[in-house]
Amino acid sequence: MQINAQNVVFCAFAKDLIIMKKIAVFASGTGSNAVNLVQYFSTKKDMEIALLLSNKANAPVIDKMKALGVPTVVVTNEKFEDSSYMLSLLREYDISFIILAGFLKIIPPFLTETFDNKIINIHPSLLPKYGGKGMYGMKVHEAVVAAGDKESGITIHYLNNRYDEGEVIFQAVCEVTTDDTAEDVAKKVHALEYEHYPKVAEKILQSIKN
Ligand code: GAR
Repeated sequence: MQINAQNVVFCAFAKDLIIMKKIAVFASGTGSNAVNLVQYFSTKKDMEIALLLSNKANAPVIDKMKALGVPTVVVTNEKFEDSSYMLSLLREYDISFIILAGFLKIIPPFLTETFDNKIINIHPSLLPKYGGKGMYGMKVHEAVVAAGDKESGITIHYLNNRYDEGEVIFQAVCEVTTDDTAEDVAKKVHALEYEHYPKVAEKILQSIKN
């Protein structure tokens, strides 16, 4: 290439050009993981949480995300199943990756096909234990305590169209003692979620070219 003033300026610009990867968080509940994810990604130059989508109009996560300046959208069950509505919504926010953080609806096939290996979920147990329909949040921790398990933990996995069955990406374990209540287990599991979920998501995003 012949060096001239024009392409020197372009090269200098290209070096600083950052392609922002935009992430949507889907959540139905309290939103402590969503808050943690937003705080983690707010320090990154090339990734950001650009949208919070919820299927529950009164979920506490919505006000928390608004307070952090994250755009929020509430969808009805009908809209969530509507591929042209959902895909154009995600295009509007330029979303290339989806993180589920306590989202309690099955993801429809048009989303898992469009976002192949670009949707991840966190489950508060060591899957395949305590997974499946109806197993979420405190119900999982109550089942762990009732069974007298000596350990629990988290599973981060890719999404498919069945509850908690996608390919496992990462697991971390915590001890459960005989004195632990379900609330104690929830605290230990949440601590693991806050520590690992953003880092695992970031690593996957770094490996995606788009
Ligand atoms: C988290 O513990 C997450 O692992 C769990 O819901 C909780 C949401 O807490 N997800 C599931 O059970 C999915 N099956 P948060 O709203 O405080 O982030």
